Amino acid sequence: MVFILLWYISAACEYSVDFSECHEATIAALITPKDCNEKKPWVIQNLPCDHQCPAGEHLDINITTSTLTCKPCQENTYNIGGGITINSWNLHRHDFSSFCYVLEGKSWKRGANCTSWHASSDEILISGTTDINNWYATDLYLFPYLVKPGKLKLIYRREVSGLGDFFIYVDNFLQYIDMKNPSYDWFTVDIPLECGRHDIQISFINYVTEKISEIAIKEIQIRGTEYADYKCLPCGKGKSTKGADQCLHCEMGSYLDKNECKKCPYGTTSLPGSGNILDCYKLKNCTELDYHYYFSECKDEKKTKIYEWNYPLMCDNNGINLPDMHDIDCGGCPLGEFYNETHCEYCKTGSYIVDSNPGKECLECSAGKYSPKILAFNDWSEIPDQFRTWCMSAENTICSFGWESRGTFIVTSPLYEPGSSIYLETTVEFVEEGSYFSYTFSKSSEANFIVYADGQVKDSFQNEALGSSQHSLSPGNHTLKWLCKHSSILSEHCSLSGIFFHGTRHGGSAACVSCKDGLISKGNQQMCTPCPAGFTSNSNHTLCIPCPSGMFSKGSSKCSQCPPFTIPDKNSEFCTLPDLLTINNKTFQTQKLRGKIGNASDYCKEDRMLKYCYGTFFGPSLHKENLFYVSFANPSEIKMPNYAKVSNMNAYAFGIFPKSSLTLTEIEYLELEDICSEAHNKILVNLGSELSLVNTTNLGFVLEYSNGDHCDKYKKFTTRIEFLCDKYDKEGWPFFSHENGCEISFIWPTIHACKFCSDNDLVVHKGECKDGKREVHYYESENCVFANNTKFVKEIEKCEEKSVIRSWPFLVLAIVSVVLIILASVVLVWIFKIKRTIVLTQAKLSSRSSAGPEE
Ligand SMILES: *[C@@H]1O[C@H](CO)[C@@H](O)[C@H](O)[C@H]1NC(C)=O
Ligand SMILES: *[C@@H]1O[C@H](CO)[C@@H](O)[C@H](O)[C@H]1NC(C)=O
Ligand SMILES: *[C@@H]1O[C@H](CO)[C@@H](O)[C@H](O)[C@H]1NC(C)=O
Ligand SMILES: *[C@@H]1O[C@H](CO)[C@@H](O)[C@H](O)[C@H]1NC(C)=O
Ligand SMILES: *[C@@H]1O[C@H](CO)[C@@H](O)[C@H](O)[C@H]1NC(C)=O
Ligand SMILES: *[C@@H]1O[C@H](CO)[C@@H](O)[C@H](O)[C@H]1NC(C)=O
Ligand SMILES: *[C@@H]1O[C@H](CO)[C@@H](O)[C@H](O)[C@H]1NC(C)=O
Ligand SMILES: *[C@@H]1O[C@H](CO)[C@@H](O)[C@H](O)[C@H]1NC(C)=O
Ligand SMILES: *[C@@H]1O[C@H](CO)[C@@H](O)[C@H](O)[C@H]1NC(C)=O
Ligand SMILES: *[C@@H]1O[C@H](CO)[C@@H](O)[C@H](O)[C@H]1NC(C)=O
Repeated sequence: MVFILLWYISAACEYSVDFSECHEATIAALITPKDCNEKKPWVIQNLPCDHQCPAGEHLDINITTSTLTCKPCQENTYNIGGGITINSWNLHRHDFSSFCYVLEGKSWKRGANCTSWHASSDEILISGTTDINNWYATDLYLFPYLVKPGKLKLIYRREVSGLGDFFIYVDNFLQYIDMKNPSYDWFTVDIPLECGRHDIQISFINYVTEKISEIAIKEIQIRGTEYADYKCLPCGKGKSTKGADQCLHCEMGSYLDKNECKKCPYGTTSLPGSGNILDCYKLKNCTELDYHYYFSECKDEKKTKIYEWNYPLMCDNNGINLPDMHDIDCGGCPLGEFYNETHCEYCKTGSYIVDSNPGKECLECSAGKYSPKILAFNDWSEIPDQFRTWCMSAENTICSFGWESRGTFIVTSPLYEPGSSIYLETTVEFVEEGSYFSYTFSKSSEANFIVYADGQVKDSFQNEALGSSQHSLSPGNHTLKWLCKHSSILSEHCSLSGIFFHGTRHGGSAACVSCKDGLISKGNQQMCTPCPAGFTSNSNHTLCIPCPSGMFSKGSSKCSQCPPFTIPDKNSEFCTLPDLLTINNKTFQTQKLRGKIGNASDYCKEDRMLKYCYGTFFGPSLHKENLFYVSFANPSEIKMPNYAKVSNMNAYAFGIFPKSSLTLTEIEYLELEDICSEAHNKILVNLGSELSLVNTTNLGFVLEYSNGDHCDKYKKFTTRIEFLCDKYDKEGWPFFSHENGCEISFIWPTIHACKFCSDNDLVVHKGECKDGKREVHYYESENCVFANNTKFVKEIEKCEEKSVIRSWPFLVLAIVSVVLIILASVVLVWIFKIKRTIVLTQAKLSSRSSAGPEE
């Protein structure tokens, strides 16, 4: 009776159970009846803490016996049976510690310029990195204490292109190693752990290159740190069956059964995330959209059109027949291929094919011409080996399918899970200047079609239903990727019918074209052979011939005339200045400042100049963070292997700039990567590979160097140097003056910018005539020099010593004196005469008067 009553109570009432914390090896349980009016909550004490429950079950109370039991988790809930789950990397940041190291010399240096394991998002922990061309390591440590035997469970993934070694150590013993797992899928590692304290070390070691290489960890579980879980957790993503220790998200066409995804029975399918066999539904009958055709090999100029069901087949083809196969004409092979009896094959290097119908052969490409190679893909009876295809679901897990071949095109199946991304990728080596790739696509309205070259988006189609596109590529290896991103709507698809690469290293040729000027071919060549500097091709492009006199070539090019007033060097490789530069009737002595071609300036051979010259260049001349090296019309190769550089051209001037100060386009940046780390944030830039202008100025002359490295998308660097006549500066110095867009200007005061004095420029000073001779000094005026470096020229001049008497001032003076004397004497005589008359008269008068009265 009591038993029945108890059974009745327990059957009628629901209880919720809450456990206390473990205290002195015991816990208490609070039982709260639900929906039973008769019962009040009660507590059961002194229950042992160490009652164990396995994963998928939680601790419970047998009300009948008041003892601890374990109870399986309900559907769509789970637990790990007592442990730690780290899958929110922000939340659990403090549960682990991580370090990174860089190999310097022979020792690993901790915390050098590197990032350690870190959260890339809340869901993902990724290994870090350091500067490229370095060995790098990162460690993550966990120190769990297990109260019952458990395990370490870790879910990780490796980047597709990634190298590097992934290790897991437990208590300093290597337990897991992944040297190179090519899969992009999430991978689960299970390592059993004994009771007690453990030292878990998760390491990644890698030689860092420009390729992304990393390990992404989605989740780390340590099971066994608790005796049991008190509760089960609801599934986040996915579903679970009763008693599960995890939740699973099953792909389309499968369902969850006993904690495993199983395929639906034949003829049925299911929606993604299905949790029961009952979710598998009968497939619709197949239609003509569910099969495609391909062609057999060509035999007797006929090939067979064969139909086959699509893969994956998501329809019921029971009782439905494919159309009958039938024969048609073979038609031509893809571009650059010929029929070798039954199948298409590339023409051999140096030969080409225009008409690729059966029976036609590849033709020899004659001397002076070449046959550039192409790779054409429009036969899609299978995904060619060069291509990789894969698919990622919206949840970032790998799905089972990729781009599927349909004989004459490839598609992403409309049956794929909504939101999935389907990739097609290949790496192709291009050798031609002016290489390109092109493709033709179509897609359903909501799908997003994106095309990448070397990780950069080249095309993104959202609204277009079909189209084609072409992009040029520089020579080198390029990774091209086509992505079809299905929207959240069901039944999306993209298709690609033709992919075409032009200018590749491998493949066949469909053309025989003339070599460009400066390049030659002996016939049957894939590429023309460049003529060296100083040479160009003959008109037939069969031989390299030297440039005609007065002209130059930098190699692989036509010969060009040197600009006015400049001359080619003796090998006709570039232009320079003559030893005596004469422009507009002004002559300058340039030889000493320039030095011999290819050798340093004569001044640079003096000890005092040791630090101010570098090969044929004067420098470094500083401006802000930039260093400049400038030659005087004497170009040479820049030999500074420590710096990244853009080109290998000879330079008349170059600069070393911080990389960040340049606005080079991405492709140009890619070329600079092979470098030594110490100078790695600087880049060496050619500021002029051609001497393009010489002209006089009022105070000297000006030189311009052009055609340096790319400065921005359209322009190249040029250098302008204004030489100022400065008699007190021998070699002088190139001072940075200003920068105008891509033109860098210098001012260079030097005596070599002073013209030779002409007769009009002289200052003359004549000496006295002595013994029929005198000295005349000719001095340089302020802005000219004598060619021979004397400051003045002394010349002796003949002269006559003329007598004083005959000189006209003397004569005039003499005549004037005579006239004056005559005049004076006349006046004197006259005055004397008058005076005498007066005296006589007075004498006469006085004698007359004295006689008078006396008389
Ligand atoms: C409780 O324990 C008794 C006796 O062991 C057992 O018969 C009963 O089935 C248990 N009840 C539950 C719910 O496990
Ligand atoms: C980190 O890099 C900078 C420049 O890139 C360098 O100056 C510094 O010395 C480096 N630090 C260490 C610890 O290597
Ligand atoms: C599918 O095909 C079968 C036989 O081929 C036919 O009996 C059935 O009616 C078809 N179902 C539909 C929905 O057309
Ligand atoms: C055609 O293929 C056969 C073998 O498949 C090969 O031996 C032969 O050289 C090929 N012919 C040409 C012209 O390439
Ligand atoms: C391109 O890749 C191939 C194979 O990896 C390699 O042999 C070749 O040297 C590479 N070419 C260039 C220009 O890097
Ligand atoms: C170019 O080819 C033609 C015909 O083959 C030949 O007559 C001529 O001499 C060649 N010219 C040179 C410069 O080789
Ligand atoms: C150079 O000098 C000559 C005569 O000496 C004269 O005829 C000519 O005009 C001058 N040219 C210039 C550009 O001054
Ligand atoms: C350049 O200088 C080197 C040694 O300094 C010498 O051997 C070489 O002959 C010189 N070249 C020329 C063209 O003068
Ligand atoms: C050289 O300079 C003169 C005067 O400055 C100018 O008239 C002339 O156009 C310049 N020549 C060139 C080629 O720039
Ligand atoms: C120096 O040059 C001037 C004219 O340029 C010439 O008259 C003189 O004779 C030269 N002197 C010597 C020592 O060569």
